Amino acid sequence: MHKDCERILISEKEIRKRIAEVARSADEKFKGKCPLCVCILKGSAIFFADFVRRLTVPVELDFMSVSSYGSGTASSGKLKIKKDTDADVGGRDVIIVEDIIDSGFTLSKLKALFKERGARSVTIVVLLDKKCRRECDISPDLSCFEVGDEFVVGYGLDYDERYRNLPYIAVLKRGIYGDGSQPLKGTPNSK
Ligand code: PRP
Repeated sequence: MHKDCERILISEKEIRKRIAEVARSADEKFKGKCPLCVCILKGSAIFFADFVRRLTVPVELDFMSVSSYGSGTASSGKLKIKKDTDADVGGRDVIIVEDIIDSGFTLSKLKALFKERGARSVTIVVLLDKKCRRECDISPDLSCFEVGDEFVVGYGLDYDERYRNLPYIAVLKRGIYGDGSQPLKGTPNSK
């Protein structure tokens, strides 16, 4: 385990097994269709690569990069598109693939955006669901794991752009992102 981590929360083996299960459910759902899988960079890059390789239905892949800004609250913030999809989503079955849903702000805005652009359906697939932090009324259609309010890194998730390449999901040592004397404020894995 990396020296900056406190403990491994989800092992490589558990991740592999669960992604295969979730991909089977997605396969069932999209039988006879050709969904457009959209990777929301950067956090979901690793999950996306593993998830789409487990699908057997034909798929197209696309990439998007967004960031949120505004007052910092889920309801009044704005989503900034840094890189948009190449494909026209009109009439398509879109699968948004995210590493984590926290307040739910990013995914509510993205879902609304794809709907507005005429997507036939929008399905949300996430690796991690931090349900306890939800501020928007949104749930993923498919989720691999639910996690608590801990600072998790690895398998795509970062702290200050580091640790994304760890093959497992781990809890970061408190001393790495603070002096350990203060309780965790805000959303450790998002804004
Ligand atoms: C993370 C994650 C989601 C968002 C979830 O992205 O990938 O996009 O935060 O948080 P929310 O549910 O509160 O909106 P981040 O901005 O950390 O960028 P990254 O994917 O490049 O690490």
